[in-house]
Amino acid sequence: MPKSSPNLNPPAPVAQQLPAPVFEDKKHLIKIFQGDCLDILAALPENTFDLIFADPPYFLSNNGITCHAGRMVSVNKGKWDVSRGAGANHEFNRAWLAACQRVLKPNGSIWVSGTSHVIHSVGFAMQQLDFKLLNDISWVKPNPPPNLSCRYFTHTTETIIWAQ
Ligand SMILES: C[S@@+](CC[C@H](N)C(=O)[O-])C[C@H]1O[C@@H](n2cnc3c(N)ncnc32)[C@H](O)[C@@H]1O
Repeated sequence: MPKSSPNLNPPAPVAQQLPAPVFEDKKHLIKIFQGDCLDILAALPENTFDLIFADPPYFLSNNGITCHAGRMVSVNKGKWDVSRGAGANHEFNRAWLAACQRVLKPNGSIWVSGTSHVIHSVGFAMQQLDFKLLNDISWVKPNPPPNLSCRYFTHTTETIIWAQ
């Protein structure tokens, strides 16, 4: 009996009604929609975009502290940034990347920025979805927050993955 490989990719999104844009500039053909990206992307036609830029959650809101403008502040940004565990975080990355893949034109490309906490999951999800990885771009931050624990190096870079 031939072995069939299991389909590990997320199900295709179900089309929804696109909400009214929260901002529109008709002259420059710009529209901003606010909502869950999975809902918004599902409401857009496939093969639409030449380029997508995404800065997804880093899942760093863990009740820790960081330094902002010289002051010690909470790292908590909101529920959306709370880790649901490595497996669930990765499934989220796969789901929104698959939704982006559907709306990208065949010759379109995607840029995704992230720290080391999330970018490896993004890269792996792209490989699982058969994106072609074009480049890793290092975004060097001249003024990164200091590492208050002094037990490892400061996070002076983010990686941007450029893929097709
Ligand atoms: C790393 S932050 C990006 C911040 C952005 N670069 C900026 O300068 O404002 C991640 C963003 O993703 C948004 N987000 C999280 N989950 C989302 C979802 N399911 N759909 C749409 N946006 C989401 C958060 O509200 C947050 O603004």
